[in-house]
Amino acid sequence: MATLRLGDTAPDFTAETSQGTLNFYEYLGDGWGILFSHPADFTPVCTTELGTAAKFKQEFEKRNVKMMALSVDGAASHAEWIKDINETQNTVVNFPIVADEDRKVSDLYDMIHPNADDTLTVRSVFIIGPDKKVKLTLTYPASTGRNFYELLRVVDSLQLTAYHKVATPANWESGEKVVVSPAIPTGEAREIFTKGVEEVKPYLRLTPDPTV
Ligand code: BEZ
Repeated sequence: MATLRLGDTAPDFTAETSQGTLNFYEYLGDGWGILFSHPADFTPVCTTELGTAAKFKQEFEKRNVKMMALSVDGAASHAEWIKDINETQNTVVNFPIVADEDRKVSDLYDMIHPNADDTLTVRSVFIIGPDKKVKLTLTYPASTGRNFYELLRVVDSLQLTAYHKVATPANWESGEKVVVSPAIPTGEAREIFTKGVEEVKPYLRLTPDPTV
């Protein structure tokens, strides 16, 4: 499989998971999805990530985002590891982890980067929209645990910009000022964004977050 790029259709699959056999598209339904891979079970960084992900599940659910993790170990291994995660991270892992022993899903999503590691998946993240298109990809090395606040922040930005003609500036957090889409002339922007438009430069116009 070639590298998945933004705007590509996220490949569907049916796979064994820690919650039984699941079809990805059926699992996602009409909502958003986040699929993230881990190098291996019973490893320290992955253990903290899965525990953190479980604690963030409610926040993702509020945004209509379903979570699915993956590693190339088997379902029996996942079941034992989940006990450790729950115990050490003081949580309950409550979303499926794909048991991708045959690397089928890892290959579909290009999660194995042979020059980093021949067999283990890197820390890939795919955010998938209700149209099943890839909205975001991120790749972290095995040695760096992901920042789940950043993943939520990106979801907030993706969902805002999907429905409003805005973009979000550097370090933006939900509720802060946003940037008017460059395609909209300032006069038109003032009609659309009734809370006001601040023209810093003709190409840099700010407006309050339209959802708050
Ligand atoms: C970890 O999750 O701790 C890890 C996995 C593979 C390589 C290095 C760290």
